[in-house]
Amino acid sequence: LWLIGAMAFLGYVLGSVPFGLLLTNFAGAGDLRKIGSGNIGATNVLRTGRKDLAAATLVLDAAKGVLAVLTAWIMTPPDFSDRAAAVAALAAVVGHCYPIFLGFRGGKGVATGLGVMLALSPLTGLAGCALWLGMARLTRISSAGALSAFVVMPFICFALYDFSLHASPKPMATLLICLLVLARHHENISRILRGVEPRIGDGKR
Ligand code: G3P
Repeated sequence: LWLIGAMAFLGYVLGSVPFGLLLTNFAGAGDLRKIGSGNIGATNVLRTGRKDLAAATLVLDAAKGVLAVLTAWIMTPPDFSDRAAAVAALAAVVGHCYPIFLGFRGGKGVATGLGVMLALSPLTGLAGCALWLGMARLTRISSAGALSAFVVMPFICFALYDFSLHASPKPMATLLICLLVLARHHENISRILRGVEPRIGDGKR
């Protein structure tokens, strides 16, 4: 049990690393907290006008999720590895949303959530990425892509694992991760409903 706790801690600390803020600060691209939505994620980094930094934020925020899950999976004995990976996945997304390094005020968990899902259940993660990209392209609204992906992924994960022979902790972790990410988007959801959510490429709001 302590090993699973340790993996949760590791996932949380890894997830807490705010790459968007670090990169924009380092590159002198402005204060992310005062731009656009004020969020620390790749979508808001894009609003600084630096596509390269936005892409790097997306990749690194996803990579810390992948790393958290794979580390937990590798470092625990086979009997526990699924549970440890599921706990680390949830912990990494919690870390990104409520980071210890930023007074618990973090991001919305989209890139990190996609990263942990790719590592935890690659089929679910790939479907999530496809939905996210497809819907974001179609609507030109980043949060609309994210919402579609995180609404659908729990269904996919439950469908994949619930009919398998041994029970897996992965669908439940997926459900909790997706609920958290959706909850973090309440402002985006209300802006979408009011028709005022900014579109990708429209520049700073
Ligand atoms: O992917 C994050 C996105 O869903 C919302 O970001 O900055 O538009 O609130 P933002």
